[in-house]
Amino acid sequence: MTTDELEQLLAQQPVSRLHRLAHGRIHRHFRLGKRRLIEALLRHSAEHRAGLESDLSILIQERPTPTGRPELPHKTDKPLSKATHHHGPIQDGEGPEPPTDLTAFLAGIGIPPPQPFVPDPWQEEALESLKTTDVIVSVPTGSGKTYVAVEATKRAIDADRTVIYTSPLKALSNTKFTEFSRLFGPDQVGILTGDRRDNPQAPLLIMTTEILRNLLYDAAGGEIDLRLDTLGLIILDESQYIADPERGVVWEETIIFCPGQARLLLLSASIGNPQDIADWLTSIRPTSCHLVQHHRRSVPLRAGYLHPNGKLVPLFRTVGIPKGPTSALHPEAKRLFAQYEDDSVRSR
Ligand SMILES: Nc1ncnc2c1ncn2[C@@H]1O[C@H](COP(=O)(O)OP(=O)(O)OP(=O)(O)O)[C@@H](O)[C@H]1O
Ligand SMILES: [Mg+2]
Repeated sequence: MTTDELEQLLAQQPVSRLHRLAHGRIHRHFRLGKRRLIEALLRHSAEHRAGLESDLSILIQERPTPTGRPELPHKTDKPLSKATHHHGPIQDGEGPEPPTDLTAFLAGIGIPPPQPFVPDPWQEEALESLKTTDVIVSVPTGSGKTYVAVEATKRAIDADRTVIYTSPLKALSNTKFTEFSRLFGPDQVGILTGDRRDNPQAPLLIMTTEILRNLLYDAAGGEIDLRLDTLGLIILDESQYIADPERGVVWEETIIFCPGQARLLLLSASIGNPQDIADWLTSIRPTSCHLVQHHRRSVPLRAGYLHPNGKLVPLFRTVGIPKGPTSALHPEAKRLFAQYEDDSVRSR
């Protein structure tokens, strides 16, 4: 397909379909009108033409129902009897030949072109709320929780307060130590883990949550290792660990022992019941806790199925992880599942 043909085809599509196509490809596509959306898709397709065309043809083949949603399940699909099984390319009417290697499967996902940094409203909301309350940020992975942590740290340090940032893993603490040392300057950042103790007097200390819990225990017993009285902010990254059957108690105790004058910032992509945790914090801490939450994914998920024959195919007919009625299996995935069932019945 030439670029002109692709442009024409895109122009014939309803804008909702263009947004579905842009999801995961064009940063903040939902802000664009149809014309700019098409321009952005064409720009993007300069490098990822095959993936875009394949996803477009999948979307076009979805038949709309009176509700405007794709009609599923596909009533006219042939039954998957043995007679319809085949090992070559899938037949007309069943959909296009699916991507079969990882590059094609992941087409359209990558680093977006550079743009000026503009904080998202939820990031601003979290930072604003932190001035007066504890905050739980519960947003999907890759949304930009680090920005909130970094800005909140800057503000605390500017106000002559110290900051503790914890992560559940030594490896993650090491990575954050390197990242934050680059950002704030090496003299501003220290690290305390089971393996490392560098620059412990720095205003920003990175540590594992267990180490912080132990320091808070010691402080409660009168053994103060940290300048806890100047502590302005404790950031608990990956705080979904509070639900961990074995380690969760460490997060609970850290929160319970957190000095009253310090703000708590809990970051997570996957707390199931963040409002319950916020209510609990409000009930035990001197300040209330504000929940910042959204479910929009900046980094799309794609579900794939690796068949024992080594073929990687999309699991669903739609691009990304579908919700509700769009969750029909991709025809090729259906065929492979059915073939697998047949093979296992035969081998019994
Ligand atoms: N407002 C924004 N606009 C555009 N890009 C942003 C914005 N905020 C953060 N980013 C970028 O998003 C990427 C992911 O950010 P970050 O690592 O903070 O995600 P995260 O929410 O901590 O994810 P995870 O749950 O995986 O820890 C980074 O490259 C960051 O620079
Ligand atoms: Mg993160």
